[in-house]
Amino acid sequence: MAGAKQHAHWSSRWAFMMAAVGSAVGLGNIWKFPYEAGSGGGGVFVLIYLFFIFFIGTPVLVAELSLGRRGQKSPIGSMEKIAKEEGKSKLWSLIGWSGVIGGFVVISYYSVVGGWTLAYVANAAIGAFEGVDKVSAAALFKEGLQQSETTMILWHAAFMFITIGIVAKGVEDGLEKAVTFLMPALFVLLLFMVIYAAVTADFLKALDFLFWPRAKDLTVDVALNALGQSFFSLSLALGSIMTYGSYLTKDVSIGKSAVTIAAADTLVAIMAGLAIFPLVFTYGLKTGEGPGLIFATLPIAFGSMDFGVIIGTLFFTLLAVAAITSAISLLEPAVSYVEERTSLSRRQVAIALGVAAFLIGTLSAMGMPGNSLGDVSIFGMNIMDAKGYITNNVMMPLGGLFIALFVGWFISRKTMMEELAMSEPSFRIWYLLVRFVCPIAISVVFVTVAFG
Ligand code: PHE
Repeated sequence: MAGAKQHAHWSSRWAFMMAAVGSAVGLGNIWKFPYEAGSGGGGVFVLIYLFFIFFIGTPVLVAELSLGRRGQKSPIGSMEKIAKEEGKSKLWSLIGWSGVIGGFVVISYYSVVGGWTLAYVANAAIGAFEGVDKVSAAALFKEGLQQSETTMILWHAAFMFITIGIVAKGVEDGLEKAVTFLMPALFVLLLFMVIYAAVTADFLKALDFLFWPRAKDLTVDVALNALGQSFFSLSLALGSIMTYGSYLTKDVSIGKSAVTIAAADTLVAIMAGLAIFPLVFTYGLKTGEGPGLIFATLPIAFGSMDFGVIIGTLFFTLLAVAAITSAISLLEPAVSYVEERTSLSRRQVAIALGVAAFLIGTLSAMGMPGNSLGDVSIFGMNIMDAKGYITNNVMMPLGGLFIALFVGWFISRKTMMEELAMSEPSFRIWYLLVRFVCPIAISVVFVTVAFG
């Protein structure tokens, strides 16, 4: 009987923190944040992003973790259970559904980009970056990878294979070991890259670009992108955080954990920006380069520094690890749901869903400009960008809105106080943020985009 399966738990608070930070810190910070900031005009994007992270994302993070811990099931199971306990409509389980499905869509293309990082581990290791300049670095990415479908799909397969392997092993064995050592290592290497960029490239210009908001850059699209990116970076509303919350024991403080996760996540994103933009300015690259930004800039730095082969290989390896720890959390919600509802084993479910996501992901790879499905256009975007837009800019903020509404207005205050066990003043601040600030801010962005 499926119900007889035991719901797993983290072995310690540290293990949970590493897994949650591992989920949050990923391609979103190091690959996406810099190019979104670059395309969104820099300072304005960063400022709005920081506002969303701390005033919207963090309270939603607290809400989502507590829903998971309260429910002790997959996101769908947890939402059904809590709605029932609180005497509310079963329809609230749609939050769980949207998370599980959204997570599945994201993992399908996330794995393609994860594959790029693996390809770059290989490139770095064989010395492909040596002496590259702006033109050859761009060619290495475009012709060498993006427009070579088979290469890209093979790396995508390799990335998904590793992800499935870890998810199949389960929470404690697979995941905890991967994150406890490798996340801190990534942080140290990123710090090194920031220092390298500060010493060798135009750091002041990067600071000005990233932190000096220019009013002309402010558009509703930038605000929506910043909102979507803040949710994406904190892994919100895709079931990941709810699932990780469900593996939490009662003694962990959700409020403190959430603040730490958000701070670590933000620090890594800002550091990535500080490592990339000095190089962008010094080497005359475009800030609005798009998804290829880090792949077009970092190799130039690795190619010209001492020990660049070793440092570059290490950097892309750790980036791949950060991507894998996020990918695991994207596949996990769907796996936990199917495992909960059927008599299949975790291993079988992980393989079936992972292969399905891989196949859907190949469409993203084939849809890159110049490739076999490169002409397919969904709302004027290629397949990969369309998946990103729908999940980041629609499903995640909408999911966050409903999480905030549910927790703030439909669950009793008493239940939430009991679940969070925070001091009274902290609880009040959080409650004010989820009840009013989050729903209003998210709605304002949506309404402005729709009618603006
Ligand atoms: N937060 C991850 C990153 O920044 C991506 C992610 C989104 C993971 C949503 C899980 C859920 O790369």
